[in-house]
Amino acid sequence: MSDSTDSRLKDDRRFVPAAEFSKHARVQSHAEYTSLHERSLSEPEAFWREHTQDLVFRKPWTSFQDWKSPDAKFFLGAELNISESCLDRHLKSDARTRAALVWEGEPGDSRTLTYFELHREVVRLSAALLDLGIQKGDRVGIYMGMVPEAVIAMLACARIGATHSVTFGGFSADSLRDRLNDCEARLLITQDGAYRRGNIVPLKQMADEAVLQARTVEKTIVLRRVGRERAPVEMRPGRDIWWDDLMARTPSPKSVERAMKPEAFDAEHPLFILYTSGSTGKPKGLLHTTAGYLAGVHVTSKYVFDLRPGDLYWCTADIGWITGHSYIVYGPLSCGAACLLYEGAPNFPDWGRFWSIIEKHGVSILYTAPTAIRAFIRAGDEWPQKYDLSSLRLLGSVGEPINPEAWTWYHRVIGGGRCPVVDTWWQTETGSIMLTTLPGACYSKPGSTGLPLFGVDIEVQKDSGEACAPNESGTLVIKRPWPSMARTIYKDPARYAETYWAAKNGSYVTGDGARRDEDGYFWVVGRIDDVLNVAGHRIGTAEIESALVSHPSVAEAAAVGRPDDLKGQALVVFVTVKSGIKADRALKDKLTEHVDKEIGKFARPDQIRFAEALPKTRSGKIMRRFLKDIAAGVVETKGDTSTLEDFNVLANLRKDDDA
Ligand code: PRX
Repeated sequence: MSDSTDSRLKDDRRFVPAAEFSKHARVQSHAEYTSLHERSLSEPEAFWREHTQDLVFRKPWTSFQDWKSPDAKFFLGAELNISESCLDRHLKSDARTRAALVWEGEPGDSRTLTYFELHREVVRLSAALLDLGIQKGDRVGIYMGMVPEAVIAMLACARIGATHSVTFGGFSADSLRDRLNDCEARLLITQDGAYRRGNIVPLKQMADEAVLQARTVEKTIVLRRVGRERAPVEMRPGRDIWWDDLMARTPSPKSVERAMKPEAFDAEHPLFILYTSGSTGKPKGLLHTTAGYLAGVHVTSKYVFDLRPGDLYWCTADIGWITGHSYIVYGPLSCGAACLLYEGAPNFPDWGRFWSIIEKHGVSILYTAPTAIRAFIRAGDEWPQKYDLSSLRLLGSVGEPINPEAWTWYHRVIGGGRCPVVDTWWQTETGSIMLTTLPGACYSKPGSTGLPLFGVDIEVQKDSGEACAPNESGTLVIKRPWPSMARTIYKDPARYAETYWAAKNGSYVTGDGARRDEDGYFWVVGRIDDVLNVAGHRIGTAEIESALVSHPSVAEAAAVGRPDDLKGQALVVFVTVKSGIKADRALKDKLTEHVDKEIGKFARPDQIRFAEALPKTRSGKIMRRFLKDIAAGVVETKGDTSTLEDFNVLANLRKDDDA
């Protein structure tokens, strides 16, 4: 851990970008940032017209926005094919022969695809998908690891107008099945297995299990990544096709033509559905559309990461989360950036892996998560110190609040004190980064997510809807719609309206608590709803609870977060068992396995505690704030306990069982 002065200084330190960085940056001063931000709000149409100049629109838009809460449309009248902005446009420039993807496999193999090659692969797969009968508007599931083909699959879907829905490879077969069923996918693209920390995640096997009960899936495309010995797979004739066999087929001339010169779609054509956790047991399928999303991720990639030719940009997120969608695929590729893609774990074969990748490939921009940074701190400075990290010029953080200690370590040890650190706040719903400090323009304060980006009208509000005073804590809300926002929850518009747009004053409710300091800098504290952020993974307490109560031994369950030095939050569950069931260690193991199966290993509880009963109000509502205190080891219960049905329940819960 870094020096103890870090936390003492946490609120008043400012890190000003080096003059050398600012001199070459796209936005070079705070004044320039302010005027751009103000213009994006006062003259949005002119602002976005200027800032989307580089993108390929086959038909320009006729009006900027149509907003009847909660329904938004942006760039009305525009027609485009998003893959042309990410691929075709670069074939006319020097980028043609420059790297688009630099891929490092976990075992150490690597591969580079230039923009020309990436375009070629996407066109080939697009033609093959058309020949399989996949059409505009169809949904395609993707369940893959971090391989170039995952990017190719996403872009090929986009190219033919199919809506992709990527499920993170850490999700279980049951979770995949639920997602495929919800979005009614016709096709699933997967791989035999994925490397993870030297082990194999048997993706195809899990996909088989999922597809068995996914009634709409007609075909499965399977990439061979790890080989027969490591992941034996069963190919079902008529349903399953090897990726290589599919690509080797001669496509029909009509499909080739349609893949080469793809159709232009309406600005609001559905681009992807991505599931995320909310406050009920059922994940929300957030739907993102085309033009507004592209505009948001393009502009933010360009300005926040200050992308320039010659950069090698590395976002370590998984393709299965929004960060992978926006900042591995659509954002950086629309800027013509060279993107590094790493397949495996940060500590395989040892804690030097990230740093060795940076040295080996000459990474200049690194975008990662606080949980990873904290794990690296724990592993020791000797790991990064073994490698040459001088190619780095900019560092980014995303996914959860970054504590000032982690921020300063990142800045000092990884960035050598010379690289600006951009802490970026945003969500699956927002599509693109909403808050940060532009690296050459604004000073950073460790722990603060900075200032609003272009088009973002954001505020901290009290429950009454009034703006909070500086440094007063409240709810983070966005006061007007913005181009890259999710348009709806797939097949559940009522939930979308209710979850995000039900505030009386018409603001978008983020679900996060925050404060804004006297300099206008935002400090995001974390979720204030029933969503946890465990190691940067968004997990709904209700999802965990419904997974647990689906186990035959469980009567009731309550999941809460507990502060954790490494993961930000750890997941603690309180479980009452049915009568006659023995609450012992063996049952804890079974419940852990059960969560693995129902959701995925990443959602495993850090602690399972058996309870005789859960604290409830007289009307039967579980009183979570007490459970949170107990999980965190708080000795005295604060707050009103008068509505508690039975005070003994609390006293009993404090006796930690160690079954
Ligand atoms: O609580 C905020 C936290 O992550 C939530 C969004 O999670 P998800 O949709 O999975 O997207 C994560 C990647 C964008 C937010 O509501 N969060 C995200 N970034 C930050 C953050 N909290 C604090 N600081 C951040 N930089």
